[in-house]
Formats: sequence, C-alpha cells, structure tokens
Amino acid sequence: MSSSLPTHKWFIRLNLILISGCVRIADECNIINVYLRYGHHEALVTTVDIQGRVNTAPMGIELLNVEGHNYILVQPYINTETYRNLLNTREAVINVTSDVMLYYYSLFNPSRLGYESSRCVRPPRISGYVDLYVEGLVEEVNIVNDRAYIKLKPLLCVRGCGSNLAFSRANALVIEALTQYTKLPALISLGYLDEVRRRFEVVKYAREVVGRIGNKDLVEVVEVIYHKCLDVVRNLLI
Ligand SMILES: Cc1cc2nc3c(=O)[nH]c(=O)nc-3n(C[C@H](O)[C@H](O)[C@H](O)COP(=O)(O)O)c2cc1C
Repeated sequence: MSSSLPTHKWFIRLNLILISGCVRIADECNIINVYLRYGHHEALVTTVDIQGRVNTAPMGIELLNVEGHNYILVQPYINTETYRNLLNTREAVINVTSDVMLYYYSLFNPSRLGYESSRCVRPPRISGYVDLYVEGLVEEVNIVNDRAYIKLKPLLCVRGCGSNLAFSRANALVIEALTQYTKLPALISLGYLDEVRRRFEVVKYAREVVGRIGNKDLVEVVEVIYHKCLDVVRNLLI
C-alpha cells in the first residue's frame, strides 16, 4: 500500500512529479533565444551547496543549441564556489539582468540581495530588477585546465519584473570594471604583468567616464572597485 511507503520514497516520488511538470514547461524556454541573441552574455548564477546555503556569482553565459534543444553554457573556474555547487547539487537559477548593482552586491555585499523561491529547483531566484529567470539542471560537465564547461538544461523560464533601464554606458562600464577586478588575482599569480597593467587601465577609464556620466550610486561603486584594484596592483605597477 502506498501509505506504507517510507517518507523518503514519498519525497522522491513527489520530486519526480514536480520535475516532470517542469520538464514539460521547458518547451516554453525558446524565449532564451531572444535574451541570449548576442553571443556571450553576463548573468548572476544562483546555486546551493549540499547544506542548502545559497551562493550567487556573476558568470558569463552562452546559448547552446543541440539538435534543436536549447541549453545554457556556464564556464566557472574550478576554484569557484559556483563550480563546486553545480557539481555537488546540480541545480541553478540563471538570473538574467543588466542591472550592475545586483552584480556589485553579489561580489561585495551579498546580504543586500533578496531572494524568492524557485519553482523547479532548490536555488532561489533573486528578487528585484531581473529580466528572466532560468531554472535549470546540470546535464554535462567538461573540464579543460582550470575551467569547467557546464551544459545546463533549462526546466523553467519565467520573466522577472525587468531591469527597467535605458541603455547606460555607465552601467556597462561598471560591469567591465567588475570583470577586470575579478580577473586580476589569476593574472598576477600567472605573472602576466603587462596584462594586469592593461586591465587596470580599463578600470581607470571606467572610473573616469562613470565619474562624468554616472549617478551617485554608480560613482560610489566604481570608486570602491577602483580602490580594490589599486590595493591588488599597487606594489606591482611601480
Ligand atoms: C560580469 C562578470 C562575469 C564573470 N564571468 C565569470 C565566468 O564566466 N566564470 C568564472 O569562473 N568567473 C567569472 N567571473 C568572476 C566570478 O564572478 C568571481 O570569481 C566570483 O568571486 C566567483 O564567486 P563564487 O566563488 O562564489 O562562485 C565573472 C565576474 C564578472 C563581474
């Protein structure tokens, strides 16, 4: 009798029912063709560890079309928490947004990010200015040197309330500065000092332009990023 099933079997059965519902919804994920139409994009990837602790990090993403099915390619370095979580718990929410403040919070002030429950996976969705949530499962992991190439199968794609932002050069330059900041430690440890100098110049350019055309929030953010980069490179660039 089904009522005599141990609790964990009920749990597995319930999960299978829920996930198979989500698999049917995956057909509606063609919308990611539109959001990811320019090749390499940036997003916030939310994952959980085996204890259920939530982690969000900016990651580059790309659309993969394999035999008519859409997948999302995520490429975390293997020293990231995102990689470890994807490997261990195999679920993610891709939060598609162009609002740089969410990227900034994820790196420097994670407690400022708010979350709401997802429908098909354990990692939650980020609340606020998000265009699209893609809830997905890890389908394939390949590792080349220090980087993982992870194929994520979308289960559910849901529009968020939107970034609601006119095109902003300041917003785009802050993303650029954040990206360069996160790349500096690896470049330094590899001894690529010319590359470190070149990327620091990009951060200085971002700071100069955002200082002219950004609002108070973006100016504060770019100042933090610039000074953090300065701390990292100060002794190297004399
Ligand atoms: C816009 C942007 C895109 C990024 N893309 C990647 C990426 O594709 N892969 C990666 O490993 N790190 C990427 N990073 C750097 C990570 O976000 C950063 O190393 C972060 O600290 C990793 O966090 P985690 O250890 O919690 O996963 C990116 C950073 C920014 C700002």
